[in-house]
Amino acid sequence: MGGFAYLVSTVGASVAPVLLEVLTRMEFRGRDTSGVAWIEGGELKVVKDSVPIGDLYARYGLKDLRTPRLLGHTRYSTHGKADPRNAHPHVDCRRRLAVVGDGALRNYEELLMEVLRRGHRVESKSDFEVIAHVIEEFLDRYGSPVKGFLEAVPKLRGFISVAVLFADGIVVAYTSHQPIYIGLGESLVAVVSTLASLYGIADSYYEVLGGEVAVVSPEGRVLFVDVEGRTVVKSPQPLRVSGDLVSKGGYPHHMLREVYEVPYSILRTASAVQLKYLEMASRMILQSRRTIVIANGTSLHAGMVFSYYLTELAGITPLVVSSSEFPLYYVDNVGVGDVVVAISQSGETSEVLRSTYEARLRGATVLGLTNNINSRLTKFSNIYLPIAAGPELAVPATKTFTSTLILLYILAKYVGVVAGRVEKAELGGLWGELEELSRTILSNLDSISAQTRGAAEYIGRCTSGYVVSRGITYPLALEGALKIKESSYLHAEGVEGGELRHGPISILDRNVFTIFIEPLEGSAAADMLNLVAESVSYGSPVVLISHSLERSDLPVKVVRVPKVSRHLMPVALAVPLQLLAYWLAVLRGVDVDKPRRLVKVVTGSSE
Ligand code: F6R
Repeated sequence: MGGFAYLVSTVGASVAPVLLEVLTRMEFRGRDTSGVAWIEGGELKVVKDSVPIGDLYARYGLKDLRTPRLLGHTRYSTHGKADPRNAHPHVDCRRRLAVVGDGALRNYEELLMEVLRRGHRVESKSDFEVIAHVIEEFLDRYGSPVKGFLEAVPKLRGFISVAVLFADGIVVAYTSHQPIYIGLGESLVAVVSTLASLYGIADSYYEVLGGEVAVVSPEGRVLFVDVEGRTVVKSPQPLRVSGDLVSKGGYPHHMLREVYEVPYSILRTASAVQLKYLEMASRMILQSRRTIVIANGTSLHAGMVFSYYLTELAGITPLVVSSSEFPLYYVDNVGVGDVVVAISQSGETSEVLRSTYEARLRGATVLGLTNNINSRLTKFSNIYLPIAAGPELAVPATKTFTSTLILLYILAKYVGVVAGRVEKAELGGLWGELEELSRTILSNLDSISAQTRGAAEYIGRCTSGYVVSRGITYPLALEGALKIKESSYLHAEGVEGGELRHGPISILDRNVFTIFIEPLEGSAAADMLNLVAESVSYGSPVVLISHSLERSDLPVKVVRVPKVSRHLMPVALAVPLQLLAYWLAVLRGVDVDKPRRLVKVVTGSSE
């Protein structure tokens, strides 16, 4: 993941200082590596390193660079670790073009083989270098940068947005999903991947939508075409970005921005999955004596959903245990033939590291899942799969949770295919299913945000409450309660629906809220409606997160969530829970990005 920008001065002035400002504003999208490219005497020059952009400028004297056209990037490692070679921009073999971008190429392995077979020199582990070589092929064939690029686009599958600087000064920018923005300033044109980064440098902007290509001439003239090369007519819109929100990408809090990134990060995750490792991981699980899932907090809740996926799709029921508990009892019973699936967003949680280390010592095989491929978890694992959600800055985990669910779903499905329980053809429909999920969440986000804000006002005065569900959405009840506690300091407990009458129901009154997440399993859903009515009768303010209810006569606050395919409903249902926690925090005046006593990575343990 990363942020990128290309600036061209229409009056021939140097743009290096402005590019530094713009890329610094995008650092919430990653700052493991950075790089810039420009043209000097008809040749492409590239400077890149595994340092943030400010350090790159200082180290290579880039502030004094006098160039009216400059391309730059700041990156979070998802394909290839934080190494200067993996930094963007990437060039082709003959250095006639430089590529920067965001996202992940779904057919990376296939295209890599193709360009290697054709004799290209590939120097990094970045999928965007492969894109440079693919475009090079078409540039050779058609001679023209724009024609060559348009012919290359159909080969690029997955979730990507790119900007390409050609040695003749033409720039093209293309996106398959998330928008790219073209800012228009007094004497500057800027191609950027985040709108808020245009603050103060542009007065208006164009939005380049999925499937569109922007072409910027060396002088800064802009035109738009579709992937067939047909002209797209667009009008610029006035830029309205508040200066104090710039460092958070235009949102009041990182947490809210990160929830709004969910539709994009789930596609990024799916695109980053490499078949070779997915296959290895699946065989590891299938051939194992036992599969044990270890994690903490939100990652543990994702691991619990995995247990439902794996049971249903592959007929394997793993043991899911907190990595804080694992070393106390379970580890002594682990050995050769066992697979430990260690899930950690940060890849640095000490209990997870300790447990994986101990499990390896005893001969178990470790499969790591992490959002930080530079973390120690990747070193402690036999193999790892990247969560690839991009950096998460708010302490409450949101988009990394939904992306972890996506990765676990893909893994479980693949294990099911290798086990012969799921038709191989079903894998073909997976990308479409995920695109549909992404689109559906995106188009409902504003409505869900408004509904959950209303629900937060409804229950915000309570002193505590429950989040209740059953079946595959039960772990979401635990996750919803955790999110509410840590974000808003309001006490909440996750309860399995069937357990409510076994004790918890006794404390319900008007000060104790109940949030019901409608289960996906038919019989459980009917039972839940009875529990809703009962909770109302005890005076509890009730919120019902529903995917089926058209209308309700019950005196409850209903939050309607669109229906998606059943296995992906936990992802769709996570979003209202995250937004409800967010709005409760805002109402209660909590600094939601940095709740008291909590840190993003828990490294202190009772070791
Ligand atoms: C909750 C949260 C924590 C983490 C937990 C594990 O929002 O962020 O509960 O999920 O500390 O962290 P990782 O996944 O980094 O091991």
